[in-house]
Amino acid sequence: MSGHTLTIMPTAAKSGPGPVAPRMLTGDRPTGRLHLGHYVGSLANRVRLHKRYESFFIVADLHMLTTKNSEQDIAAVRRNATDMVLDSLAVGLDPAHSVFFLQSAVPEVAEINLLLSSLVTVPRLERIPSLKEMARDAGKQEMPFALLGYPVLQAADILAVKATAVPVGRDNAAHVEVAREIARRFNRRYRPVFPVPALIHGDVPSLPGTDGQAKMSKSLGNAIYLTDPPEEVRRKVMRMYTDPARTGPGVPGTVEGNPVFAYHAAFNDRPAEVADLAGRYRAGKVGDVEVKQKLAEAINRFLAPIQERRAAFEADEGLVAELIVTGTERTRREVQRTVADIRDAMGLTAAFTEFQRQVRRALGP
Ligand code: TRP
Repeated sequence: MSGHTLTIMPTAAKSGPGPVAPRMLTGDRPTGRLHLGHYVGSLANRVRLHKRYESFFIVADLHMLTTKNSEQDIAAVRRNATDMVLDSLAVGLDPAHSVFFLQSAVPEVAEINLLLSSLVTVPRLERIPSLKEMARDAGKQEMPFALLGYPVLQAADILAVKATAVPVGRDNAAHVEVAREIARRFNRRYRPVFPVPALIHGDVPSLPGTDGQAKMSKSLGNAIYLTDPPEEVRRKVMRMYTDPARTGPGVPGTVEGNPVFAYHAAFNDRPAEVADLAGRYRAGKVGDVEVKQKLAEAINRFLAPIQERRAAFEADEGLVAELIVTGTERTRREVQRTVADIRDAMGLTAAFTEFQRQVRRALGP
């Protein structure tokens, strides 16, 4: 056990329609370390917002099962969850203001998933393009039942903690829309239990991969990780895809849509240097090598303090385990209250309670 103290924010005093403070929930599946694409798409937003909310961060291992459910995938959850939490702390989430939890250790989420699943139709889910993409990327010939239900499970996560805000990247926007619909439908059909969660977008749409593909992603092998050492960053940057029409340093190049300049815009803290490089690039007065060298240096300047913080948190042995255990227990208590609210609003508890009463009456005093 580590010696630090955790300041856990007060929990809502009692169950009812909505939390006492605005709540945020977001998170990731535990499939690996986080990269620059995660940073731009969502981590920066999390860091900016997390102290304004009671902030919950899910390690969504049940969601991972919808496409990756081998023994090895599942065995890797512990390592990957640890990395995700370390990466999150490294970019600036304050552990005293962040509740990290492991989805599969809050089994009530699965019950909520089931109860909410009658509020959404199959054709509604079939119209969500991201699910078809995920099925294709995972090499599935047919849509797995669990994958079709992915947004419903995500709605269960969100509504389980009665989140009011969900900061996510583009590919998750449609899922949050499903959660909003389910919340409205539940509140109308039974009684108001859930706040309708707001979707919060990332500022930059998405970061291209080092290979020029539209998206940086682990599975495409075109990512720069937050943990990549300076040499690795340099190697990846020097091999980056750039303006393919530019055959030499004397040829005018295109900056717009050029991933090297997209990265400069996102990570170089020296705007005058970026403007100078862009001007010379357009005029055919700079080589790709210089533009890339300066980019590698900029990314390394950006990553240095992140990696330093990560090392410090990593050295605090047991910290991550403690955060996950405390956060999961805390979340589970919240979710148990929500399950009670849901069952109560639906009138689901009434029948059995009546049966019990009848039995007690029959037994007599
Ligand atoms: N779907 C997210 C992803 O792409 C992970 C996730 C699961 C999530 N439940 C969530 C995100 C609830 C925000 C809110 O990995």
